[in-house]
Amino acid sequence: MTNKPTFWLRCEKKEFERRAALTPTTSKKLIDAGFDIIVERDEQRIFDDAEYEAVGCTLVANNSWPAAPTDVPIIGLKELPESEEPLPHTHIQFAHCYKKQAGWSKVLSRFHRGGGTLYDIEFLNDPTGRRVAAFGFHAGFSGAAAGALALVAQRKGAPLGLLTPYENEGAMIAQVKQLLGGSGKGVRALVIGALGRCGRGAVDLFRKIGLDEDDIVKWDMAETAKGGPFDEILDVDIFVNCIYLSSQIPAFIDHAHIAAAGPTRRLSVIVDVSCDTTNPFNPIPVYNINTTFDKPTVPVAVGAGNPPLSVVSIDHLPTLLPREASEQFSADLLPSLLEFPARQTAPVWAQAERLFQSKLGEAAAVEGL
Ligand SMILES: NC(=O)c1ccc[n+]([C@@H]2O[C@H](COP(=O)([O-])OP(=O)(O)OC[C@H]3O[C@@H](n4cnc5c(N)ncnc54)[C@H](O)[C@@H]3O)[C@@H](O)[C@H]2O)c1
Repeated sequence: MTNKPTFWLRCEKKEFERRAALTPTTSKKLIDAGFDIIVERDEQRIFDDAEYEAVGCTLVANNSWPAAPTDVPIIGLKELPESEEPLPHTHIQFAHCYKKQAGWSKVLSRFHRGGGTLYDIEFLNDPTGRRVAAFGFHAGFSGAAAGALALVAQRKGAPLGLLTPYENEGAMIAQVKQLLGGSGKGVRALVIGALGRCGRGAVDLFRKIGLDEDDIVKWDMAETAKGGPFDEILDVDIFVNCIYLSSQIPAFIDHAHIAAAGPTRRLSVIVDVSCDTTNPFNPIPVYNINTTFDKPTVPVAVGAGNPPLSVVSIDHLPTLLPREASEQFSADLLPSLLEFPARQTAPVWAQAERLFQSKLGEAAAVEGL
């Protein structure tokens, strides 16, 4: 081990997770800036070990981070497997334990007992309060693709089957276009939240599969200000919801509106990227479960004699495009990673550490530590 600033990229243990917090591209940029990058071998990751080796990373055994020197920060994406083991390292990852999710205090108590620190990536914000890195764009992009695939399946009269991650964006676009008969031309889509990260991704996918620009209807705050339900949603093939829901708003669409549209309704697929499924203010109150890669759609009750309507409500859509989603996320995280050695004074990290200390205090009180 050298005295250079170092990150240790750990393997991911969550099933189906092929994304990485550090890609070979960002690893190379960190190495060029004077960092050492240690990478655990991981067959699950979309990037080959050799891609990291080729840019100068040091490869180590899978899941060997617990034995790493405690002054080396460990970076990963998803939560660690459940355990009682104390955590003495600094971890940079999504931990899903700051909003009192199930088991939150147990997770934090591991840091308390080990003396380690958690920098939760979900709460790394720039001085304007905007998250420095999020997976939104590829959630919208993949969600729109899943919507197009669901439309094809519905036209064939069968439910959409298993979705599996694509090697890259080109493979996804080629498959969607091929199943649409060569191009998405003629399909009409409405994206709400079109100015946000997810919304821009959805619009991009629809462009890339060949929809006419006039057939990609883009709405954001201005267009929904009049209040729903909206007839316009019933007049497209695919409706993609990408809003960030922060308060109660009138429903965008509801059962009565769908039934009233009768047998001439065009709307066939709703993709709820926002997935506020169990939120009492869910603006799409026509379904109540999150769908999965193996069962991507849930049917909506539409009334006898009316055409079918299905919803895609998968809450981990970027996993469908692990390579591009990782590249974009890691590139967004890079400027903050470069500041990490000065984390005591860098606002992004200092703020995240204060938040960790306050959550640690709450957990210690709950756990009686
Ligand atoms: N399903 C998934 O896999 C997945 C992945 C990532 C993010 N998400 C979710 O997607 C949602 C959007 O995330 P984002 O990063 O794109 O957020 P964002 O803040 O970048 O964009 C949200 C957009 O919604 C718009 N908006 C908010 N309220 C609206 C309204 N009432 N009418 C019209 N537009 C409205 C905003 O103006 C903004 O342009 C979040 O709820 C996020 O948790 C889901």
